[in-house]
Amino acid sequence: MKRLEGKTAVITGAARGIGLEIAAAFAAEGASVTIADLSLQDSEAAAADIAARTGAGTLGLALDVSKEADCEKAVADTVAAFGKVDILVNNAGITKDGLVLRMKETDFDSVISVNLKGAFLMSKAVSKFMLKARSGRIVNISSIVGLTGQAGQANYSASKAGLIGLTKSLAREFAPRQVLVNAVAPGFIRTRMTEDLKDEAKAKISELIPLGRIGEPGDVAKAALFLAGGDSVYITGQVLSVNGGLYM
Ligand SMILES: NC(=O)c1ccc[n+]([C@@H]2O[C@H](COP(=O)([O-])OP(=O)(O)OC[C@H]3O[C@@H](n4cnc5c(N)ncnc54)[C@H](O)[C@@H]3O)[C@@H](O)[C@H]2O)c1
Repeated sequence: MKRLEGKTAVITGAARGIGLEIAAAFAAEGASVTIADLSLQDSEAAAADIAARTGAGTLGLALDVSKEADCEKAVADTVAAFGKVDILVNNAGITKDGLVLRMKETDFDSVISVNLKGAFLMSKAVSKFMLKARSGRIVNISSIVGLTGQAGQANYSASKAGLIGLTKSLAREFAPRQVLVNAVAPGFIRTRMTEDLKDEAKAKISELIPLGRIGEPGDVAKAALFLAGGDSVYITGQVLSVNGGLYM
């Protein structure tokens, strides 16, 4: 039997990169998936592609996770389409890098708003359904820099460290209803977010990674699948690092 047979999942920021890979992995394991991203066109294209590849039920939606009404609507539309929501993956994320000395207030606010507040708003939106159902999974995509900090990424690191605090608080609040909440902290993964780095910089990073290579979106999707599925029933409030050993 497939690992997510009969389940319904919402994945934010799923039109490309890590989110797309998570949506495809969940669909391949039998889940119906909502792909929710900024552009309706991109979300619908990803949803159609995944449906064609896996035969799963898919829905492509436009949302900005930093807006409460968008989050409420995305969850309501998912429940209308598939009857319920079992899994939420808070994956949408942005960077606006710069040294603190030069970082604009708006660049700090927007990163916190999408990466951290967005996860809060989406978790709140699914919580009424999951708490009532007395079951559910929330997987938050944090980052290695939420654990280590990173020069030039004060806003992003703070948002990702904040996500870990949010994960643990939600895990405590929702545990009595068997809603499990965990985080994945990816290291350096090959996506559009990291493509701007020069080959030389990528080679240097690979040298620092004990497993000797930059990660692939599929490496993260496998961890998200584990935390969303039936093999992790006694795990909540945890942070699973997927970083090739870069930070232990
Ligand atoms: N790539 C890495 O090395 C890496 C490492 C650690 C953590 N992460 C995290 O993984 C997640 C996915 O990143 P990625 O590398 O696939 O990046 P990406 O830029 O390829 O994808 C991010 C997606 O989020 C969407 N998005 C951005 N703002 C949004 C908003 N307000 N509402 C809805 N969707 C929005 C984008 O449109 C995009 O499709 C992010 O949370 C990122 O911080 C990535």
